[in-house]
Amino acid sequence: MSKPSPTNPAPPTRIGLIGFGCVGQGLYDILQRHPEAGFTVARIAVKNPTKLRPLPAGRFEFHADDLLDDPTLDLLVEVIDDADEAFRLVSRALRQGRRVVTANKAMVARHLPELIALQREFGGTLLYEAAVCGSIPVVRTLDSYFAQEPLLQVSGIFNGSSNYVLTRMREADSDYAEALAEAQAQGFAETDPTLDMAAFDPRSKAVILAAHACGLLLDPDAVLNLGIENVSAADIRYAAERGKKLKVVAILQPLPGGGATVYVTPQFVDADSPLYAVEREFNGVVVDAEFAGQHFWRGRGAGGHPTGSAVLADLVALRHGFRYAYAKLPAETALTAEVPDLELEVYLRSAPAELRRALGLTDVSEQLSAPGFTYDYAVGYVRLSQLHRYRDALRAGGTFVARTGRVRPVVAQPAPQLETALAAD
Ligand code: HSE
Repeated sequence: MSKPSPTNPAPPTRIGLIGFGCVGQGLYDILQRHPEAGFTVARIAVKNPTKLRPLPAGRFEFHADDLLDDPTLDLLVEVIDDADEAFRLVSRALRQGRRVVTANKAMVARHLPELIALQREFGGTLLYEAAVCGSIPVVRTLDSYFAQEPLLQVSGIFNGSSNYVLTRMREADSDYAEALAEAQAQGFAETDPTLDMAAFDPRSKAVILAAHACGLLLDPDAVLNLGIENVSAADIRYAAERGKKLKVVAILQPLPGGGATVYVTPQFVDADSPLYAVEREFNGVVVDAEFAGQHFWRGRGAGGHPTGSAVLADLVALRHGFRYAYAKLPAETALTAEVPDLELEVYLRSAPAELRRALGLTDVSEQLSAPGFTYDYAVGYVRLSQLHRYRDALRAGGTFVARTGRVRPVVAQPAPQLETALAAD
C-alpha cells in the first residue's frame, strides 16, 4: 500500500457512532462541517426506531453490538444516556482491544477501576474528555500536563444546568421551576433533571477528576453531593446582600498524607473568586498547583457543539495513539470507599429542629428564627460526614444548605445521631 501524501491522502478514519442525542448530533454536525478533519461517521446506532431524527431514516440502525462486530470501524463513539447499557457496550469494546470515546460521566465514574483494568489487560483505549465540563480540556490537562506536579486543590462549577438556574434566579428573578424549564428547553439538562439539580452529575465529574488529579478511585456514593432543589429567592438574596453569588462548587482537596477530601455542594462565592463570573451554562475549573500556581478555565460545559468538540479532540488524540497515563494512580487500582472528614461552615435554611441537632451544628455565628417567620437559618460548623449521612433527609425536608467556604479539621467529639437527638426532645 502506498504511503499517504498530499496527492494520495489517507482514507478518512471510520467512526461507529452509538447514540444520536444532543452530543451525537453535535459531533456529527462538526464532522460534516469539517471534512478536512479526516473522519467519516460510517455507521450510527440508536435505540428507538420510531423517533424523528434530522437525517434520513436509512442512516440509522438499531443494534449497537453490530458496530462493535464491524472490524472496518476504526474508532467507536458511545454517547447514549443509559449508563448501564453504555458500560456493557464500552466494556465489550475494550475487551476487543478497541479504541473508544465516551461522554457518559455516570458510567465512567461508577466503573473507572474496571475500565482501567480492561484497557491494561486487552490493550484498548478509552478517552472521556467530553464527560467532564464539556469543552474545557480538564481531564487531559490534569492527566498529562499535571501528571507529576502535586496539586493543592481542584475546584469548580461542573454542572451547566444548575449554574443556569442559579444565574436566571438572580438575574431575572425567575423562580426555580421556571428557570429549570428554561435550562431543559435549551438542552443542557439531563433526561432526569435530578441528576443536575441534586448534584449527582457534578459528583460524577469530581470522581473522574479525582483519578487524574489525586490518584484516587472513589466510590461515587462516598462523595457528598448537595444540590439546589430546595433553593429559594431568600437564599439568592442572602448571598447578594453580602456581595456573593450562590454556585454549586465541587472541591477536590488532596491531603498531605495521601487521599483527598472531595465534595460537591452549593457555596457562597466571593467576587474575587474566578468562579464568581461563571454564569449560565458555563463551567469553570480552578487548579491550584504546587509549582504552576493557579490556573483557571471557563468554557461551555454542556450542549451539542461544545461537548461534540471534546469528542472530536479525543478522536484526534486516539488517532495519534494517545492514552491516559493515570500517573498518580498506584499500580494496584483499589477503590477508596471513604472520604476523610472535616468541618465545613454552612448556612442551613429551613432545617427542622431535630435534624439540625442531629447534624451537630456548632459555633453558630449567625441565626434568624422567629415565631410565624417562614425564613429561618443558622450559620455554623458541621461535619462533612454528618451532611453526607443526612443528605437524603435534608433533601426531603426542604432544607437548603450552602457552604461559606470556611473549613477546619474535625474537632474531636462524637457526632450526634438523629435517634439520640430525637430522644432528647
Ligand atoms: N447536564 C449536564 C450539565 C450536561 O448541565 O452540565 C453536561 O454534562
